[in-house]
Amino acid sequence: MGELTDLDTAPETHHLPVLLTEVLEGLDVVSGERYIDGTVGGGGHALAILETSAPSGRLLALDRDPEAAARATARLEPFGERATVVHASYDRLRAVAEVENFVPVAGVLFDLGFSSWQVDDPTRGFAFRLVGPLDMRFDPSAPTPSAADLVNTLTAEELAQLLWEYGEERQSRRIAQAIVSARPLRTTEALAEVVSRAVGGRRGRLHPATRTFQALRIAVNQELERLEAALPQALEVLRPGGRLAVITFHSLEDRLVKQFLKREASDCICPPRVPICTCEHQAQVALITRKPVLPSAAEREANPRSRSAKLRIAEKLP
Ligand SMILES: C[S@@+](CC[C@H](N)C(=O)[O-])C[C@H]1O[C@@H](n2cnc3c(N)ncnc32)[C@H](O)[C@@H]1O
Repeated sequence: MGELTDLDTAPETHHLPVLLTEVLEGLDVVSGERYIDGTVGGGGHALAILETSAPSGRLLALDRDPEAAARATARLEPFGERATVVHASYDRLRAVAEVENFVPVAGVLFDLGFSSWQVDDPTRGFAFRLVGPLDMRFDPSAPTPSAADLVNTLTAEELAQLLWEYGEERQSRRIAQAIVSARPLRTTEALAEVVSRAVGGRRGRLHPATRTFQALRIAVNQELERLEAALPQALEVLRPGGRLAVITFHSLEDRLVKQFLKREASDCICPPRVPICTCEHQAQVALITRKPVLPSAAEREANPRSRSAKLRIAEKLP
């Protein structure tokens, strides 16, 4: 699980776009075309797409975090009407693209997970190394349960299942029991302490609470469900020859993207033992990357957050 180490690194002052050159090349960004950035964050990839597609390329950018959307709006303001930023979750990609008159497009990018801005802000509750409320919602303006709601209301069995499924946490039962015994838990610090006490000291480079925090964040934001809903919509809005680029940061989301692209690159998705194809499935994409593109040693050195990144690219067939 790649992203696991990220919360354990020193705070960065700003968010560096990951695999930037590889994304621009992979999306084949050129002047005059239209692109969608489904996760605009600090706007690093978005800015580069707008610069590379100058003078007339256009970008529609989404983020589920209202603060990120506001920051990106300000950062992309110099591009005038060439850039449109919308506060929306990427599982609404097709509807937003239709409303904004952005169908079809030449490229769609998802750079998944959280940004340095979010993790370094204690009030968001993403980081166990900072003291803050146990929130973890990408969209704190939405009336959805926070991490505190989950840890204080789920049963020990439900918590253990969540930690196992989304954190691949081997000590899930022990941690779940310790959480239930210690609640109510209100802060990142309190949760990190309970987990540390339950499982003992550090495990190698990882803080003992790393997997617990990741699992809660994925559950709170329904990250895998939303990604699963967004990927087919991205293919629907692409023009033939258009490119989809996805950067993942942990094995659960990478597996989901890999399996989706494999299925959509196949003419038959019948179970292996079926002698004659009955599925009538038609390949929608060609895989541009058979293996994921990884950051160079230089990028990993310069930007520790990039260490677990994996980029996959596919092209929509005519
Ligand atoms: C890794 S950051 C993107 C960084 C960006 N590419 C850049 O260069 O600054 C991921 C962003 O995705 C956003 N995000 C997470 N889930 C989302 C969703 N369901 N819909 C839209 N944005 C989402 C987060 O709020 C965060 O800002």
